[in-house]
Amino acid sequence: MKIKWCVIGAGGIADRRTIPAILKDKDNELVAVMDRAPATAENVGEKYGVPYFSDEEEMLKTVECDAVYIGTPVSCHFEQASVALEYGKHVFVEKPVALTADEGERLVEAFKKAGKQFTVGYMMKHHNLHEKVKEIVQSGGIGQVNDVRAQFSCWYPDIPGAWRQKKSLGGGGAVMDLGVHCIELIEFVLGEEIAEVKSFYSTRTFSYEVEDGAVILFKTQSGVLGHIDVHFNIPDNASESKFELYGSKGYAICKGTLGQEETGTLSYLYAPQGDYSAMQNRSVDKPVEYTGAGEDLYLKQLSAFCEKVRSGKPDYFYAERAVQVQRVVDKIYSKN
Ligand SMILES: NC(=O)c1ccc[n+]([C@@H]2O[C@H](COP(=O)([O-])OP(=O)(O)OC[C@H]3O[C@@H](n4cnc5c(N)ncnc54)[C@H](O)[C@@H]3O)[C@@H](O)[C@H]2O)c1
Repeated sequence: MKIKWCVIGAGGIADRRTIPAILKDKDNELVAVMDRAPATAENVGEKYGVPYFSDEEEMLKTVECDAVYIGTPVSCHFEQASVALEYGKHVFVEKPVALTADEGERLVEAFKKAGKQFTVGYMMKHHNLHEKVKEIVQSGGIGQVNDVRAQFSCWYPDIPGAWRQKKSLGGGGAVMDLGVHCIELIEFVLGEEIAEVKSFYSTRTFSYEVEDGAVILFKTQSGVLGHIDVHFNIPDNASESKFELYGSKGYAICKGTLGQEETGTLSYLYAPQGDYSAMQNRSVDKPVEYTGAGEDLYLKQLSAFCEKVRSGKPDYFYAERAVQVQRVVDKIYSKN
């Protein structure tokens, strides 16, 4: 079954990643795009040779489609996903699901009631190295997981009119934009939720109203301790994207895997230790190295969504995980 797609918010990640992914799969068809900025709607529509609109309802009334992709500022997600559902569409909304967990929960309930597929664009769990880390961890490959760290940053200076820099439009700064990916990935790999958080955040390098950096300490349901560092104020060339898990029998360390490409490396060391050693000599064992497979993460997540649509059996597991991410985010923001 060919899935016909309409796109709401066509100018950013939609144009760079999602529409190209839709077009890569012959069983998908792009049928229309919509963007609130008329010039963007026109440019993107002409680029892909499809009708374009600057009003979502007009597009959904005029064009027949099965699914809607939403790539707009976070403040639009709830409203636009609700409108698409009113028109009977399956919806793939970009991360984060909405401004709050409550909004996200209402969306999931509405899609469940209507029996339409609904998911949220957390593509990093589809990275082959993150799938591998999950497999290692779940099979006890590093023993009891005791320490998890995720560090994800970029350079995001003051830009007049940027929605991400306004609390009312983006819902927050580095936590809402980068932290959510880390939270989702950690819960995916561990297979459990972050239960407690303590955090610091600040806006110190730039002058926008949302945070340009945050450090989050957390404890999971089973007691795994960890921290997440997310920053908008570290130059791209100095940004280390790291995801590290240390356990009672070894480690799994990903470098350069947090991002939009399936790149980077994973070093896995199995080094169980029996007796206490006062010398604390470091292991000379070499870790096993894995590399990113270089596939298209956006196509992978799209294919997973389409499979659910075609099966006729909607699955809300990832949407519910995305709501849980917002519960953690709500806690982070409410405690400061
Ligand atoms: N998963 C990822 O890798 C990834 C990467 C970037 C962004 N995102 C997410 O995608 C969403 C969009 O981010 P972006 O970077 O593409 O932003 P962007 O500002 O680059 O693009 C957003 C587009 O939406 C349009 N727009 C604004 N308000 C609109 C409205 N009410 N209706 C229709 N169109 C509207 C803008 O004109 C613009 O073309 C956000 O939720 C963001 O968190 C995800």
